[in-house]
Amino acid sequence: MQIDTEKLEAYYADAPEDIALSDIDLARIPRHVSIIMDGNGRWAQARGLDRSEGHVAGVDSLREAVTTSVRLGLDVLSVYAFSTENWKRPQHEVDLLMHLFATTLIHELPLFHQENVRLRFLGDIEALPEETRKVFQQGLDETADHDGMVFALAVNYGARAEIVRAAKHLIQEVEDGNLEPEEIDDERFSQELYTAGLPDPDLLIRTSGEMRLSNYLLWQLAYTEFYVTDTYWPDFSRWDFLRAIRSFQGRNRRFGGVAKA
Ligand code: FPP
Repeated sequence: MQIDTEKLEAYYADAPEDIALSDIDLARIPRHVSIIMDGNGRWAQARGLDRSEGHVAGVDSLREAVTTSVRLGLDVLSVYAFSTENWKRPQHEVDLLMHLFATTLIHELPLFHQENVRLRFLGDIEALPEETRKVFQQGLDETADHDGMVFALAVNYGARAEIVRAAKHLIQEVEDGNLEPEEIDDERFSQELYTAGLPDPDLLIRTSGEMRLSNYLLWQLAYTEFYVTDTYWPDFSRWDFLRAIRSFQGRNRRFGGVAKA
């Protein structure tokens, strides 16, 4: 994506001591950054607040992450908002999250229009409560013509279920005579995933210090660089985003080959 350097420099003025925009090579910005937004509950508990306050505070971080990604010229920002396992949380927390997803999306639609962001969902959104499903559909419809950054929200997403779903569909295609088994390769398989058409993430950020994938994008993360920070999601700022990219740019990505001389 095109970078508006003037806007980017203004956005990254007032740098803290340890990181600045000049630490970043703008010619080597990752195309796709994915984030496991973790630590909302602990952020709230550390302040004597209800866990729900952590999720509400997390919305501000997410808005900043979207703006940051647009300013940095990413092609795709994807975030893990709700897993297929998250239904096991207390009912009131699940209800709050579903309501928060709907209200936030409506509230942020003007930002998506202003920044030309196209919305996409990863996961089984048909199974969501009606209010959330309707708003998600509205978001898809209203941003369908945008050709800027893709913002992919993983909701009711689980990577194993995604892979099983893909396998079943391919089997069906073979049974229906539309596909030969020999035609199934990595690329064809990728087309059956929720991320069809998107590049694989170059960088995965996980907040709150956990070193787990939690059933997230298992197929797509095959060659992705990981960056884990102890910062809880509601405290994750544009500067933390820059720190993650600086770390990414210091890596030597070999994709299973050998280092370039
Ligand atoms: C992880 O923290 C966070 C979630 C499961 C929900 C993510 C939701 C948001 C960031 C709110 C805004 C999102 C949208 C799409 C509007 P946790 O509850 O697992 O925290 P813990 O590990 O400290 O308990």
